[in-house]
Amino acid sequence: MQTLDVKGLSVYFPLRAGVFSRVTEYVKAVQDVSFSLDSGEILAIVGESGCGKSTLAQALVGLLPWHSGEYSVFGNPVKISSGKEWNFVRKSVQMVFQDPYSSLNPRHTISQILTYPLLAKKASKGEAIERAKKLLSLVGLPEESLVRFPHEFSGGQRQRIGIARALMVDPKVIVADEVTSALDVSVQAQVLELLEKLRTELGLSIIFISHDIQTVRALTDKVLVMYLGHVMEYGPVSSVLKKPKHPYTQALIASVPTMDPSFPPQILAGEVKFFPSDFKGCPFALRCRIAKDSCKMEFPEISEIGDSKVRCFFAEAE
Ligand SMILES: Nc1ncnc2c1ncn2[C@@H]1O[C@H](COP(=O)(O)OP(=O)(O)O)[C@@H](O)[C@H]1O
Ligand code: SF4
Ligand SMILES: [Mg+2]
Repeated sequence: MQTLDVKGLSVYFPLRAGVFSRVTEYVKAVQDVSFSLDSGEILAIVGESGCGKSTLAQALVGLLPWHSGEYSVFGNPVKISSGKEWNFVRKSVQMVFQDPYSSLNPRHTISQILTYPLLAKKASKGEAIERAKKLLSLVGLPEESLVRFPHEFSGGQRQRIGIARALMVDPKVIVADEVTSALDVSVQAQVLELLEKLRTELGLSIIFISHDIQTVRALTDKVLVMYLGHVMEYGPVSSVLKKPKHPYTQALIASVPTMDPSFPPQILAGEVKFFPSDFKGCPFALRCRIAKDSCKMEFPEISEIGDSKVRCFFAEAE
């Protein structure tokens, strides 16, 4: 039984115009995304800014409505239109946010921040405080932190508090959205070590969202590469990052600086841009180094190549 199974998830943001504020268009931020996650597994979701990573993360914990798709959590199908069923999802799947500075209420003590999710579920105060102490110790912070306020902690410490808060309701999956990107490099390593520890000690499954390929390589088991809301490549890290088949994954990897001066980073030219709604071709066509004219006429379906799934007409030839 898979911990999470997502099939064909799409999330659209309506754009409104005119005096009646009618919906004139949609930003299709996530389109037909499918993946699965096993117990204790770490899945990375990578792609440039604006490709839909945060939208996907928020949809997985029910913070954004699904346009379509099927979702099952521990083998239980979730009726995505039912508010009640999302309560069950939130018990199992918790999110840690990108910005450790804004995601903690500056007016609340760490005790209030950590105990709130349990008190809201009618736990006793004593029980909630005991769990908060246990989790502070797990994330490497002293018990005395409970009486302090967020501004008294460094960025890395606040991110640890954010992780402890997510763990309060004893979830089985953590969705970590760019949790290291606001931190210094040395602190980033400590937060990554903490995630690895949580995976081994608690058997947590983690969805690790990042635009940093180096970090992903070190931490994760599987990788899902997104471009303009679509999955471009998905598979084990040993395939996707060591033998990438999609030109976009190849470009992302080539843009990472290496220690070898004979391999300077190759910056991917152009930017992520949504197409007009009548565009029928490959979303990556305008930036792809091997694009052919036909790529602008037809949308490539995802297909299996080895142990990966790849959305490109010419990936096999590559
Ligand atoms: N509330 C919103 N309303 C309209 N468009 C949005 C909203 N939130 C995000 N978007 C758009 O959806 C796309 C994906 O955004 P996001 O998921 O934040 O990407 P990422 O996390 O990969 O940077 C972007 O084009 C963004 O502008
Ligand atoms: S389908 Fe064409 S444009 Fe799209 S990634 Fe493949 S080669 Fe490039
Ligand atoms: Mg984001």
